[in-house]
Amino acid sequence: MLKIENVSVYYNKALAIENISLEIKKNEAVCVLGSNGAGKTTLLNAIFNIIHKTGKVFFNNINITLFPPHKIADMGLVYVPDKRTIFNELNVYENLEISAHKIIKEKGRKHFTKNLEAIFEQFGNLYEKKTLQAGYLSGGEQQMLSVAQGLIRSPEMFVMDEPTAGLSPKLMDAVFDFISFMRTQHITILIVEQNVNKTLKATDRAYIMEVGRIVDEGHSLKFLDSESIKKAYLGG
Ligand SMILES: Nc1ncnc2c1ncn2[C@@H]1O[C@H](COP(=O)(O)OP(=O)(O)OP(=O)(O)O)[C@@H](O)[C@H]1O
Ligand SMILES: [Mg+2]
Repeated sequence: MLKIENVSVYYNKALAIENISLEIKKNEAVCVLGSNGAGKTTLLNAIFNIIHKTGKVFFNNINITLFPPHKIADMGLVYVPDKRTIFNELNVYENLEISAHKIIKEKGRKHFTKNLEAIFEQFGNLYEKKTLQAGYLSGGEQQMLSVAQGLIRSPEMFVMDEPTAGLSPKLMDAVFDFISFMRTQHITILIVEQNVNKTLKATDRAYIMEVGRIVDEGHSLKFLDSESIKKAYLGG
């Protein structure tokens, strides 16, 4: 479904990621793990053309290497970056409605309401605060709203950069529950996370990054308590 071929990114002249190739099949959940600065966010930003890259990216066999980010999202490949994307002055409900405007236009309000119910069921905090201006939500709740904004768009594939950053253990578990729920809805997943063990248990396959390269890959469960994880995070 998503294929990345030989992607490299330079910041000024410094190499940030080098020759990354990976492939994610339909219905798979895949994670990218690695220590701070390994290049995980750079890789995701390169896929979505937020930064300049060399190499190629294909989504459902379409070459999206040069597509602008909004066009990629319209194709069903939705990205929740590590920075929050909410509008502070709008309330929770309005933030979700704005993210869903294309879905509402194409599939009707009923579809939106159904998605919204599923999201509110999972993230009770957002439901309770649906009429509160998003700027007044706690940091963790804002993070949750960013994830919900991606989900409301009915993605075919969902890409998340550290969706549990800053969340309490309870909300963190809500994110992982929601990932399980998305899998039952046949949404393909690519996730970058610091929460190594929970992420390995929630995904099928893992890629391990160290200083801009993929150094190992395989079934997620094989990496639980593995040496390559320890090395990637502790440097040996
Ligand atoms: N705009 C930029 N200009 C210059 N260097 C950058 C820029 N953005 C990132 N870098 C550098 O590129 C490298 C990879 O950064 P990146 O944000 O991709 O890492 P990461 O794996 O996402 O880390 P973290 O786990 O901390 O989020 C780091 O050394 C970082 O300092
Ligand atoms: Mg990052």
